[in-house]
Amino acid sequence: IKKIGVMTSGGDAPGMNAAIRSVVRTCAYHNIECIGIYRGYDGVIEGDYKPMNARSVKGIINKGGTILKSARSDVFRTVEGRKKAYNNLSKAGIDALVTIGGDGTFTGALIFSKEFNFPVIGIPGTIDNDIYGTSHTLGFDTALNTVVEAIDKIRDTASSHNRLFFIEVMGRDAGHIALNTGVGAGAEEILIPEEDLGLDRLLESLKRSKQSGKTSSIVVVAEGDKIGKNVFELRDYVEEHMSYYDVRVSVLGHIQRGGSPSCFDRVLASRMGVKAVESLLKGKSNYMVGLLNNKMELTPLKQAIKGKSTINLELLRVSDIMTT
Ligand code: F6P
Repeated sequence: IKKIGVMTSGGDAPGMNAAIRSVVRTCAYHNIECIGIYRGYDGVIEGDYKPMNARSVKGIINKGGTILKSARSDVFRTVEGRKKAYNNLSKAGIDALVTIGGDGTFTGALIFSKEFNFPVIGIPGTIDNDIYGTSHTLGFDTALNTVVEAIDKIRDTASSHNRLFFIEVMGRDAGHIALNTGVGAGAEEILIPEEDLGLDRLLESLKRSKQSGKTSSIVVVAEGDKIGKNVFELRDYVEEHMSYYDVRVSVLGHIQRGGSPSCFDRVLASRMGVKAVESLLKGKSNYMVGLLNNKMELTPLKQAIKGKSTINLELLRVSDIMTT
C-alpha cells in the first residue's frame, strides 16, 4: 500500500478532525502518501481529493466538525456511482481507504470493498455510540459532556420555577446518550428505545417524585424512544393527567454534534487513526477499529454493522436508586 485516502461520512462527530490528523500523521510516519477526500462518498465519486501531509492537519485536534466535510451519499448506493468512485480512486493511485463514520458509512464501505477488492478500514465516528465492536465511538464522550452541561443549566431554571422538563437528546436508534446523561445529570426518569417504560409507569414515577417533596424534575428522552409520544405530546399528556405540573420541553438538537472534542475523544481518535493505518499496512481489510477493554481491537465490518451495541441497563437501576 502506497497511498491511503481518508474521508468522513454520515453525521459528523467531535473527534473526527483528531482522527483525520492521526491518519495523516501515521501515513507520514510510515512514509506513505495520504489523500484527503472531501464530502464523504460524494467526494470519492467526484474525485474531490487533496494530498495531505503532516502539516496539513496542524491546529485541528481541538476543532469540532470535520475539515473534510461530510455527506450522506445517495449516488454511492448505486452500482454506477461506486464504479465511478473506483475509477477515480484508481486514477489518483489511491489503493486503500480509511473511512470515518457510522453504520451507514460502513455498509457502503463493505459493499464497495467487496465489489472491487479494495482495502478498507473503518473508524467509528458518531455521537450515538451505536456501533458494535467498540465501547466508545468518536464524539460520544464529548456529546455526553455537552448534554450534561445543558441539563445542568436547564435544571437551574426548572428549580426556580418548580417546573418539570422533558429534555430530548439525540440517539435515533439508541439510548446511550440519554442513559448516561440521565444518570450524570440526575434525571428523574430516562426514556430510551431499548426499554419502554410505558406511560403509566412514567406517570406513577412523576407522582411519587412529587409526593416525596421534589418541586422540579428532569426527564431525559432519547429521540428514538418507544413510548409512542414525542416530547411535546408527552408534555400535553402529563399536563392533562397531572395538572399540578407546569411542564416545559427542551430539544437539544444539533448542539450535541458540535464543539471541541473532549480529551477522551482526542486520545481515542489518535489511537484509532494509528491502528487503522497500521492495520492496512499489515494487509488487513474490511475491519473496524474499536476500543475494547482499553485496547485497540479489530472487528469485521460485517459484524460491526450487524451486531447490536449493548446498552448498559445497570445504569437504569442506578438511576432508579438515585431518584429515591
Ligand atoms: O447519527 C447521529 C445523529 O446525530 C442522530 O442522533 C440523529 O438522529 C441524526 O444524526 C440527525 O441527522 P441529521 O443531522 O441528518 O439531521
